[in-house]
Amino acid sequence: MSADKRNDLGIREDKPSDWFEPLYVRSGGDSNGIPWANMKTHPSFSAWLTRNMLESTGKSALVVGCGMGDDAIELESKGFRQITAFDVSGTAIRYCQERFPASTINFIQADLLKTQPNWEGKFDFVLEIFTIQALPPQYEDALIQNIAKFIAPGGHLLVIAQVSDKARSFEKGPPWLLTHHHVDKFIACGLKVVERHIEARSSDDQSDAYATTFQRPHD
Ligand SMILES: C[S@@+](CC[C@H](N)C(=O)[O-])C[C@H]1O[C@@H](n2cnc3c(N)ncnc32)[C@H](O)[C@@H]1O
Repeated sequence: MSADKRNDLGIREDKPSDWFEPLYVRSGGDSNGIPWANMKTHPSFSAWLTRNMLESTGKSALVVGCGMGDDAIELESKGFRQITAFDVSGTAIRYCQERFPASTINFIQADLLKTQPNWEGKFDFVLEIFTIQALPPQYEDALIQNIAKFIAPGGHLLVIAQVSDKARSFEKGPPWLLTHHHVDKFIACGLKVVERHIEARSSDDQSDAYATTFQRPHD
């Protein structure tokens, strides 16, 4: 990877998360300036909740790349004992705290590309929506390995991603749509698939929405 290689949007390949903070700052917290912000529970996560019983009593949860925080708030409404939600953008975290002042969620700035030893094996439920595909393809393996580490024995991970069968390349994003191989990469991290759900193909970009539920087996 050459230093300072940029794509058409000016995103640096060697600094793949640096563009999020300025985007959140520029938006002023208005969802019109944040292309992925639903300002409510992600529709694929809402649909997942209608199909699955979430065990929350006495359990902990982690939300990866939480953005404006709505999916973490959905989990709080389900009764988890303790929830952590993190994002690389400190401004996104501030918006979460300002939007949900009564929440007891630990909204915190953290980088998924760095190891977080204190979180390894600690969470009963981990939620990942669209963070892996928000970074260039060369980071996919590291992101998947770091997410998989968070899950406690017996715990679950839900990954929601747009999937296409086209080759991934730095020039073609963002987003850098995943391929179905992302599921095998989580399996290679010691997880097993407990539900595989594919939503209808989007005519916009010829991609499918995958919602894959994994479990880390007990030791
Ligand atoms: C496409 S957005 C999805 C946000 C949210 N999950 C949703 O569905 O609305 C990707 C999010 O990942 C965050 N992000 C990007 N790189 C990250 C990193 N290295 N560590 C943690 N979060 C990161 C971004 O700031 C952004 O909020």
